[in-house]
Amino acid sequence: MSTTGLILGSGGAALPQLERLPDGLDTPYGQAADGFFRGILAGEELLVLHRHGQPRRHAPHAINYRANLWRLQALGVERLVATYTVGAIAARLLPGDLVVPGQLIDYSWGRAQTFDDSGATHVDFTTPFDAELIAALAAAAQRATVQLAAGGVYGCTQGPRLETAAEIDRMERDGCTLVGMTAMPEAALARELGLPLAPLCIVVNPAAGRGAAAERIDLGALQEASNKGLAKVLAVLREFLGKE
Ligand code: HPA
Repeated sequence: MSTTGLILGSGGAALPQLERLPDGLDTPYGQAADGFFRGILAGEELLVLHRHGQPRRHAPHAINYRANLWRLQALGVERLVATYTVGAIAARLLPGDLVVPGQLIDYSWGRAQTFDDSGATHVDFTTPFDAELIAALAAAAQRATVQLAAGGVYGCTQGPRLETAAEIDRMERDGCTLVGMTAMPEAALARELGLPLAPLCIVVNPAAGRGAAAERIDLGALQEASNKGLAKVLAVLREFLGKE
């Protein structure tokens, strides 16, 4: 059985039986976020990381993705399920939906993209997320009767501000169906480490210029949609881990 790491985004879920691991530890890549936990779900060990820190401290562009992933692997994690709160670009996606994109486009900049500072490492990234892990999560979702929308393209913006309506129009023309700020360089770094990663995206708002209230994003509604999505994530994970 592989040890699973769960990376949580904004508004990370309260999992049962969590033990906090030491904070403030250095890695060869600097300090990882304060917010590593060991938990048990469905009788299986789960290592949980709050990527923004717990309490939340690091904005998307300021997260030390390398240190976070390095530490997860050092703790024995062999595969990653990562949650991302996202805005919906595609009209068919609604707040509270859980989506597993198949592809991504990176619009972020200035983030450390590799563990190899010499720049000599070129990993294959044709398919950025792990198909086998995604299939196992999709089967678990089905058993848990949780709707999981599969496919689509995650566009990773720099943040921390949200996008303009014109930026979202451009991303839609590029083929993006979802917009978030944290899947990159996380997915690329996980690939470098050989860690399979499956994204579970929680839709928390229609993207800028989309939806009924197209003029501005209702930030108050985000938390409610996030909680709804996280409840679904836990239901899927319970089935996923319980099956093994
Ligand atoms: N844009 C970028 N990131 C996000 C959004 C959004 O609309 N919603 C949640 N994360």
